[in-house]
Amino acid sequence: MVNIKVIAGSTRPGRFNIQVANWVVEQAKKHKESANVELLDLAEINLPFLDEPIPPSKGKYQNEHTKKWASIIGGADGFVFVTPEYNHSVSAALKNALDFLFAEWNYKPVTIVSYGSLAGGARVTEHLRGIAGELYMFDIREQMLIPNYWDNRDEKGEYQFSDRQESKLEKQLSSLIFWAKHMKTARQEL
Ligand SMILES: Cc1cc2nc3c(=O)[nH]c(=O)nc-3n(C[C@H](O)[C@H](O)[C@H](O)COP(=O)(O)O)c2cc1C
Repeated sequence: MVNIKVIAGSTRPGRFNIQVANWVVEQAKKHKESANVELLDLAEINLPFLDEPIPPSKGKYQNEHTKKWASIIGGADGFVFVTPEYNHSVSAALKNALDFLFAEWNYKPVTIVSYGSLAGGARVTEHLRGIAGELYMFDIREQMLIPNYWDNRDEKGEYQFSDRQESKLEKQLSSLIFWAKHMKTARQEL
């Protein structure tokens, strides 16, 4: 079994993010024979701005909230980043949550699901790939971009995910779980 964490990367009241994150969690739970899936909602986790005196790459965390976050991420084998695109880049909340730690992200796969206007979050996805590389993560090539999501919501404001999106996400999740399993074994040799 591998532990997959779906990270909800927007903390705004009324955010669209949580709809996408919940959809990803639901899809991922179909892999219950091979993966434990958990939503990590940054709005609930509520980290302050990075307040560790020593750079995270040294692994000398001093604050209780950092130790708690490190234990959650340290126990994970793979991630889905569900991300908004703010000014062509990563939300402060998601970047902060990533910056807090180092070793706990290392040698773990990540797949990215983004949304936004016409580009569907293509630019934040590219930025996240660079950040993932610096954290020694493996970013899966396949990606989910959801452009102009506001055009495809019902009267209650619920986004209508299509079968095509569902099968595309399934490919991402299968790949994520495959690499999570194999990278878990590889990490044991480090
Ligand atoms: C601070 C801010 C900056 C934004 N910049 C972009 C952007 O660069 N590209 C884009 O596609 N949408 C942008 N948007 C629109 C967002 O795609 C849209 O508001 C989306 O709902 C944000 O995600 P959230 O609701 O989950 O927080 C921006 C929104 C905010 C609040």
